[in-house]
Amino acid sequence: MIRKVIGIYYSPAGGTKMLTETLARKIGAILDDCSPLDVSVECHDMLSDQGSDIVFGDETVAVIGMPVYVGKIPLPAAAALRSLAGNGAMTMTVVSYGGRKYGNALFELKRLAEESGFKAIGAGAFMISYMARRGSSRGASPVIDVDAISDFGKAASEKIKRLAGCEIEELRIKPMPVEVSGRMPVHKISRISPKAAAIAQGVFNKMSVLRRRSEWFL
Ligand SMILES: Cc1cc2nc3c(=O)[nH]c(=O)nc-3n(C[C@H](O)[C@H](O)[C@H](O)COP(=O)(O)O)c2cc1C
Repeated sequence: MIRKVIGIYYSPAGGTKMLTETLARKIGAILDDCSPLDVSVECHDMLSDQGSDIVFGDETVAVIGMPVYVGKIPLPAAAALRSLAGNGAMTMTVVSYGGRKYGNALFELKRLAEESGFKAIGAGAFMISYMARRGSSRGASPVIDVDAISDFGKAASEKIKRLAGCEIEELRIKPMPVEVSGRMPVHKISRISPKAAAIAQGVFNKMSVLRRRSEWFL
């Protein structure tokens, strides 16, 4: 039985934090409503808290959120994820992106989570826009699509309930693998030089046409 939802995110500009917290809270609230025991929600920032002392297991669901940088997961975020031990905990992996394309990032995040011992049972990509802060020349506030995140949270919770409903491991329903298309990206380009990375980003942007603001797979 699920007792805890743990949100964990890497979010330099704050958008992925909002996405991850919103989704973790939505899933936590739905599971809490239908569980005889309390289901708690906690969230961790991978930038400040490497997460190595967070314990994942049978009774936890992890919501792992990362931003898309040039169609990939940022290298420090991937390194932080590698330091976690999933211990077979179910996870929903989500990426936030800024309206171009998310490239291989969702595939990469799901694969990295699986390599760290999580059972990926859902994945989603959500566009985040940024509104200039009133009266301030610094930064911008992220704006998330709460309805789209909420829809995913509801569908994800139903899947979690089906998969976690039985106490006996051997009798539990085995989920179909979640299909996210893509391939593991090469990260070398961002290490060559800032100029080369900027050119690659420019080419990527020209090729990128946004078709949907969000999409998810369960
Ligand atoms: C270096 C860099 C590269 C980015 N590359 C992409 C991209 O390839 N596609 C896209 O749609 N958005 C891209 N973005 C936008 C971010 O994915 C988006 O703003 C994201 O929500 C940032 O997350 P955060 O607010 O948690 O930092 C990029 C942003 C930065 C800073």
